[in-house]
Amino acid sequence: MRILVTGSTGLLGKSLCPMLDSEGFQYWACNSKIFDVTNTKMVNEIMNKISLDFIIHLAGYTNIDQAEDNPELAYNVNQIGTRNIAHIAKKHNVPILYVSTDNVFDGKSDKPYKTTDATNPINVYGKSKLAGEREIIKATKKYYILRTSWLYGTGGYVDAMLTFSNFRKEISVVDDQIGCPTWADDVSKKIIEIIKENKPYGIYHVSSSGSASWSDFTKKIFELKKRNVEVTAIDKSDFPRPAMRPKYCVLDSENILPDWKSSLEQYLLSKN
Ligand SMILES: NC(=O)c1ccc[n+]([C@@H]2O[C@H](COP(=O)([O-])OP(=O)(O)OC[C@H]3O[C@@H](n4cnc5c(N)ncnc54)[C@H](OP(=O)(O)O)[C@@H]3O)[C@@H](O)[C@H]2O)c1
Repeated sequence: MRILVTGSTGLLGKSLCPMLDSEGFQYWACNSKIFDVTNTKMVNEIMNKISLDFIIHLAGYTNIDQAEDNPELAYNVNQIGTRNIAHIAKKHNVPILYVSTDNVFDGKSDKPYKTTDATNPINVYGKSKLAGEREIIKATKKYYILRTSWLYGTGGYVDAMLTFSNFRKEISVVDDQIGCPTWADDVSKKIIEIIKENKPYGIYHVSSSGSASWSDFTKKIFELKKRNVEVTAIDKSDFPRPAMRPKYCVLDSENILPDWKSSLEQYLLSKN
């Protein structure tokens, strides 16, 4: 099977590509330098020359705060870029898997979001990712939209906290924003399962089971690694940022992934 993987140099791509290797898939891994998804002409020219069986579209503009000041950039990558890739999928008559986000919801719910719940993004990033979802749905019936959340993996938040603990003994972390910390490797495994098992097309929620605030998550990292860092829980209002974040953004993934604490433990063990 020949797979196009956009966004292969990102956090999720770095987790997924080695797994595709070990599963024996042939894939073309690309980033913005060699395959800019916003460049419609280039995308079409390259795609006319290669044959494909599947597209995994991970490329995205992911800086939530900077998106507020650069909406055209965020929409260009997340909507126009996704439209370009969706049209390629349609033209080649191959399935496309697009990774989307919990930020398509407004966070005003008091229970985990189901795939059928109404979307209502409150920041530019979430709006542009939702626009990307709609482009996919408009272009083809052969789609998988995987919404996930709070991804960590090599070079991500957990690693940053461990580095931080080498230098500092106290940190203030937001406590009134609830979500699902999710190990990128768990999502990568699900992506491979979807491809291998020809799962039904549609929208999937793929995040860890359970939920946590950023301060719960951070405390658990230090506890599991026995790092002596005091975590002070603060409110979002004590740490203003350009983009609003959904307050309660837990995805109902029907427990398809392990609990966030056990995945975190596995991730930390994998780094030893
Ligand atoms: N991280 C999370 O917590 C999270 C949560 C939910 C959903 N997601 C979604 O999951 C996907 C992967 O996230 P991630 O954390 O791996 O992202 P990331 O680390 O920010 O990496 C983004 C990737 O997209 C590529 N890219 C950006 N602009 C591009 C363009 N114009 N043309 C082609 N490639 C471009 C980047 O390539 P360069 O290296 O060349 O810049 C990079 O490979 C994204 O679509 C994101 O919206 C992420």
